[in-house]
Amino acid sequence: AFTPRVFSGIKPSGGLTLGNYLGAIKRFVDMQGGEFETIYCVVDMHAITVWQSPEDLRHATREVAAGYLAAGIDPDKSTLFNQSRVSAHAELGWLFNCVARVGWMNRMTQFKDKAGKNAENVSLGLYAYPSLMAADILLYHATHVPVGEDQKQHVELTRDIANKFNHDYKVDFFPECTPVIEGPAMRVMNLRDGTKKMSKSGESDMERVNMTDDADTIAKKFKKAKTDPEPLPEEMEGLANRPEARNLVNIYAGLANMTGEEVLAEYGGQGWGFFKPALAELAVERLAPISTEMARLMNDPAEIDRILAKGAEKAKKIADPILDKTFEIMGF
Ligand code: ADP
Ligand code: NA
Repeated sequence: AFTPRVFSGIKPSGGLTLGNYLGAIKRFVDMQGGEFETIYCVVDMHAITVWQSPEDLRHATREVAAGYLAAGIDPDKSTLFNQSRVSAHAELGWLFNCVARVGWMNRMTQFKDKAGKNAENVSLGLYAYPSLMAADILLYHATHVPVGEDQKQHVELTRDIANKFNHDYKVDFFPECTPVIEGPAMRVMNLRDGTKKMSKSGESDMERVNMTDDADTIAKKFKKAKTDPEPLPEEMEGLANRPEARNLVNIYAGLANMTGEEVLAEYGGQGWGFFKPALAELAVERLAPISTEMARLMNDPAEIDRILAKGAEKAKKIADPILDKTFEIMGF
């Protein structure tokens, strides 16, 4: 039996959004200190699958670490580190490049979305990235991987890699990991167009809420969010063809630790003039203290680097023996 262990990561490319918070970081905090051993990573080697200037990469790496810390990841309760400092990630990633099949990679929808019509001219790393992600997870024999909806296919690929490795080498070495995708806000949409994922790279700053936004900015963005003229329905089914409305209800639910149904039990029948200010107030209450703390942490980059370096030492204690054993199984 494998130790119940959580691994997850966030790429330091651009800033953190409310999508990263509700889909990932908030849930990482919730899983901390319970039945699981928790390992959280700033996956800096994934960031360079698309161009990052060295200054941007350094800044974003510290900012993601600050986001984790400000939201409540406690380096004494969790292992918090950046990927590049534990070289076993790159090594196991290469071994898995030789286990994973090209046909598997060709089925990854995120690659198709990100590469678009430019697929001949993106980095080889962008194509192989799910195999490095499998290494990130399996290097710790992680059993549970909390992610947003968009990462589900990559966690399933991780299971395929683990199964093929175990089968090819006739071992029971890598566990089958489970994606943990639960709660109302696993796919936070942008505030201008409820059909597109909220992301770091969206065109307009008004369409996303950044984890670094101050109270006034957060409130303004929710008050200006696109909606429709109808009042809120009493039931979730009433939101089926109302993507903007559904998104705001889900965001409220995620921030308040409620279900969408519970939010509608409270606000069903109300108009936007009532619900939007309530949402803005809740978002400010939950997010503004985090952005204030992030700003404080970012004033002391040396302290962030020290926390990450200490976390890397802790991570290596688990990762290095698993890598060594993998090499041995393979005949090195
Ligand atoms: P991004 O997708 O923002 O480029 P990552 O790929 O590093 O960043 O994602 C980090 C985590 O945040 C993943 O678990 C991903 O599923 C989650 N996430 C990112 N955007 C959203 C979103 N809009 N809604 C829910 N979860 C999200
Ligand atoms: Na993503």
